[in-house]
Amino acid sequence: MIDNNILKEKFASFFGEGTPRLFTAPGRINIIGEHTDYNGGFVLPGAVDKAITMAIVPNGTPFVNLVSIDHDDAHLFFRIGGPQPKEQWASYFYGVIEEMRKRGATVGGFNAVFGGDVPLGAGMSSSAALESCIGTALNALFDLHFTKEELAKIGQMTEHNYIGVRCGIMDQFASIFGQKGHVVRLDCRSLEYQLVPFNPKGVEIVLIDTMVKHLLASSEYNVRRAQCEEGVAVIKKYLPHVELLRDVTMEELEAHRAEMDPMSFRRCAFVINENKRLMDACAAMEKGDFVEVGKLVYATHEGLSKEYGVSCPELDFIVNIAHEHEAVLGARMMGGGFGGCVIALVKKEGVADYIADVKKRYQVEFDKDPRVIEVEISDGAREI
Ligand code: GLA
Repeated sequence: MIDNNILKEKFASFFGEGTPRLFTAPGRINIIGEHTDYNGGFVLPGAVDKAITMAIVPNGTPFVNLVSIDHDDAHLFFRIGGPQPKEQWASYFYGVIEEMRKRGATVGGFNAVFGGDVPLGAGMSSSAALESCIGTALNALFDLHFTKEELAKIGQMTEHNYIGVRCGIMDQFASIFGQKGHVVRLDCRSLEYQLVPFNPKGVEIVLIDTMVKHLLASSEYNVRRAQCEEGVAVIKKYLPHVELLRDVTMEELEAHRAEMDPMSFRRCAFVINENKRLMDACAAMEKGDFVEVGKLVYATHEGLSKEYGVSCPELDFIVNIAHEHEAVLGARMMGGGFGGCVIALVKKEGVADYIADVKKRYQVEFDKDPRVIEVEISDGAREI
């Protein structure tokens, strides 16, 4: 989290007197359950101690006046109800406000300074952190009474309608509902969730960022989602109760394989298997069996890479090295894919060796340094 005093000083230097309120919302990790959320399946994310933080005050005008610390203190404003700003970072504000207005809220103008330490492009949902922070702040500032669930949906719809990514609900939900020391086992269809204590004895979560961000990430993401929907459309002809891949068994998918585009079949098969892996991982976690969780995590990577087609050579390289280290119980790419980071479950005594090995060999192979990101599972969006 960025320092609150820096935030307050910046606020004072740009907007003068007035005591801002401070809000923060975190990025997330996800243990297992990738690309299942928009298929109505389950996910197992946790909020982390990397967050977007904002200092904000209503300004009594129809204008939103913003300073982004992470864009070299870029300063811009837009009129509420006016055209969408060109800058993507400002579009998150615009989108959240528009989604709130669609739901009948009256949002007034405000001055805000914001910044954060959620690594960009690492698959840790910096954009969901921003949406959740804006939503939580405006909800409090203008007494809007949106529930936490509605705030998560407002963030998700901001991505759909103003950023162009047809994402699921995982990231925004984790950012808002996360709790220190817990992962969130979320049913992405009903939005029922359980906070599951997460403290694997002797095992650490290690995140290694490839420092790769493919420009195709959002367009390919939407393609994957469409391929899943194509599969569902085929099955639905025979099984009308089917609405999402969540409702389809592997047997049912197999039965209609011939009528499906082969690529669509592979994508659907991955999602059905991934949802099953998540269930199995939850059962293993309950028994404290992180060796089993690790195996499932490795299998998820295999599927994401070979069947779902969302990995990249850099991610595969870091996961392959993990297989050579006995102390690594499991490793996989995390998030939407096409870059970002690997999440690994590593026995404490082997963490330093694995990281050192990856650093050395990654540099030789790709001529750049990966970044190790330390995280702790922390609380969700809140006022500070
Ligand atoms: C991105 C999306 C999420 C989810 C993951 C993949 O993070 O925002 O909704 O689909 O990819 O699991």
